[in-house]
Amino acid sequence: MSWSTFADRAVALDAADSLAHLRLLFDIPKDVVYFDGNSLGPMTIRSREVLDHTINVEWRERLIRSWNEDWLAMPLRIGNKIAPIIGAVTDTVIACDNTSINLHKALMAAVALRPGRTEIVIDINNFPTDIYIAQSVADQHGLQLVAVPAEEIANAISERTAVVTATHVDYRSANILDSATITRVAHQHGALMVWDLAHTTGAVPFNAVELDIDFAVGCGYKYLNGGPGAPAFMYVAPRLLESASQPLQGWWGHALPFEFELAYRPADGISRFLTGTANVLSMKSLEAALEIFDNVSMDDVRAKNQSLTSFFLEIYDEFLVGQGFDLRSPRDPDVRGSHVALGYSDGKVLVETLATQGILADFRPPDLIRVGFSALYNTHRDALELAKHLSHIDLL
Ligand SMILES: Cc1ncc(COP(=O)(O)O)c(C=O)c1O
Repeated sequence: MSWSTFADRAVALDAADSLAHLRLLFDIPKDVVYFDGNSLGPMTIRSREVLDHTINVEWRERLIRSWNEDWLAMPLRIGNKIAPIIGAVTDTVIACDNTSINLHKALMAAVALRPGRTEIVIDINNFPTDIYIAQSVADQHGLQLVAVPAEEIANAISERTAVVTATHVDYRSANILDSATITRVAHQHGALMVWDLAHTTGAVPFNAVELDIDFAVGCGYKYLNGGPGAPAFMYVAPRLLESASQPLQGWWGHALPFEFELAYRPADGISRFLTGTANVLSMKSLEAALEIFDNVSMDDVRAKNQSLTSFFLEIYDEFLVGQGFDLRSPRDPDVRGSHVALGYSDGKVLVETLATQGILADFRPPDLIRVGFSALYNTHRDALELAKHLSHIDLL
């Protein structure tokens, strides 16, 4: 197939795209083609408007009154906006802290619910922070961290396992793990399951209730477009909300924070997983960006990002194979998340060179180029543009 045939198809696919209008809700510089939403989502127009109002009205004019008028309610309110995106019910998700801290809280809570068990099972290729956090939880409890490749997780779970943790969409390959099987096996052995949904939330449908998972954590700044440093979130299954304990007992997780009691009493429900003061500006930015998801179905988001990554791979097969690239993502779109990973020996230089041409993707050592596609703003023409630049690699 020729470049012009792909160009015609890109135009047709974009014309038929029912989500195309969403791109107008973002303020992406005209000279940028953006493939890094799996790392930092671009700015939404609503975030800018809401932050402007927060700074000029809520902070400047209303000052400390804004805590009661609005800000205190934000972590739960935003959690409830994230809940449908991960298939959770109301009041089981809270927006707070960062993913690392939330993972720590979830693992500590899980381990406390399984006294006497001696192991934590983790995907050995998990994002490093997950490994570091799990190791610290294991060390604090005198447990062993059993780290195995994703396909061996189910076999590594036993009656010794307190908790299993893995990232649903692998941050390098975009491989989607079999969340149903892993969760089921964990439960069959009496262990608890914590999923990291960093590369899932806002890109790949997930159903926390149907899967019957115990805990989940995820990022607000990737596919949710909350902005740099946007708060993360934490999910706790309704059946565990009263028994799971918060290891970082702070005043925001107290039953009555403004009574200033000296003894800690956990708040009811998911609010006990708060620790300290919310980052109001980041929360506001995230809340504004989440409005986009109000009228978007995750199935449509998924169908479009599968179309984008599959279209890119078709062009890859036609023009890029044999040019030093090595596909590191699954070919099957059903087990491929929303990014495509390509190995390339000089990947770092290539990504830097692309950036000078306004094409922003990212690089992960030692040789991985990650190209993130978001259904909310990327087009098939973007995919074509990227492939064209990659095909002229010798000219870069
Ligand atoms: C899978 C995964 N988990 C956790 C994190 C880190 O999250 P945080 O910086 O919010 O702690 C990342 C960041 O990219 C990630 O990809």
